[in-house]
Amino acid sequence: MGRSRDAKTAIDFKRAADILKGNDRGGYSVPTDGLYPFQWSWDSAITALGWMTIDEHRAWQEAETMFSGQWDNGMVPHILFHKDAESYFPGPDVWGSEKTIPSSAISQPPVWATAIRIMYEQTSDRSLADRKLRELLPKLIAYHEWWYRERDPGNSGLVCSYHPWESGMDNSPAWDKPLSVVPEVEWTYQRRDLGHVDAEQRPHKPEYDRYLYLVDFYKRHSFNSQYIYEHCPYKVVDIGIVSILQRAGDDLLALCRIAGHDEGVRGLEEALAHTKAAVGYLWSSERRCFLNHDLISGHAIDEVTTATVLPLFGGLADTEQASTMVDLIDSWLNATKVGLSSTHPSSPRYESQRYWRGPVWLHINWMIALGAEDYGYPQLARRLQDSTRDCVATSGFWEYFDADTGEGCGGDNFTWTAAVALYWLATSQQAART
Ligand code: DGY
Repeated sequence: MGRSRDAKTAIDFKRAADILKGNDRGGYSVPTDGLYPFQWSWDSAITALGWMTIDEHRAWQEAETMFSGQWDNGMVPHILFHKDAESYFPGPDVWGSEKTIPSSAISQPPVWATAIRIMYEQTSDRSLADRKLRELLPKLIAYHEWWYRERDPGNSGLVCSYHPWESGMDNSPAWDKPLSVVPEVEWTYQRRDLGHVDAEQRPHKPEYDRYLYLVDFYKRHSFNSQYIYEHCPYKVVDIGIVSILQRAGDDLLALCRIAGHDEGVRGLEEALAHTKAAVGYLWSSERRCFLNHDLISGHAIDEVTTATVLPLFGGLADTEQASTMVDLIDSWLNATKVGLSSTHPSSPRYESQRYWRGPVWLHINWMIALGAEDYGYPQLARRLQDSTRDCVATSGFWEYFDADTGEGCGGDNFTWTAAVALYWLATSQQAART
């Protein structure tokens, strides 16, 4: 299903805008037609940045619609099932969360406050942005509080994840070991993803069996946070989530200060400081990056992936760690045709085109480039941006790109790929932090 590279060298930004418009379902965007027919949280946040370049009102709507599905406890679900769709499995009946807007029962990397800060700072409609920020701030704070309260009840400083889907990097080899102890679901089901995408580019059945066991587990235990924390067979400190939450927390603090919104600020400051103090525990001098940690086995997960260098984005590395990771990324980029591959190519589990086991995702490049800029490595940021531009210019707007060939993989006409192109590649403007 992947499309081979042709001689195109320029990005078709008109087409990128058309993809956003074509995937608009009225106030929210689907990642792509058929394969993903609902609203996904981190897709939506990245998509809002793309909308900013064509229709600011629509960009804020993307956030409003997502937060309209926020749970009473503050969680923003990873999927909102706004309308029925037969083309995706597992749907709302399998999740069984029975909310007004049917949803999944897990979250996704919390990139929203970062996106909203960028939208607020780059707006050309100040009064619209002020109004929207006032409405969204309490919801964002409740979301961040949810992460610290429900996903780190022991107050370790490091929040945890209960499902590979929560990482957004679903099939990363980093989750192989922690997932291997999860039982397989006993009922039969029919996957729908394989009707849209080549099986070579998607997870295997044993992984799906375990993904679904976990979905069932939350439902069987009535989404009881305390019970799930104590008994969930999959519990991982995901350095990608930790890093994204940290940056988003910094951005949220900045937004609170701008808006003179004091509520929740003290708790947020303490949580950010606590994470910063705790994260050193995940550093691996041998691997030259941070590592994910399996809370069930008690072991570090020895797999170098794009998540393990995201502490650059989160501002969680000290200067020496940052320089070490920059060297690692430089050599990593040399090892594949396009980069940054989602798993380091030296890993025995690397597969250049299988979902999160090797392919390149554009929004991850953007995040790492922002982190590199912040730490004073503009050349690395430029290399990442150039590689990102090359993927889109030569292959189009695919979900992800084969790291060894640059061919497009997964879903075509993909919303966040178009959004990253519009927001990051159409201008040389870096959203570097002030
Ligand atoms: C899927 O179904 O592949 C999604 O990534 C889950 O969120």
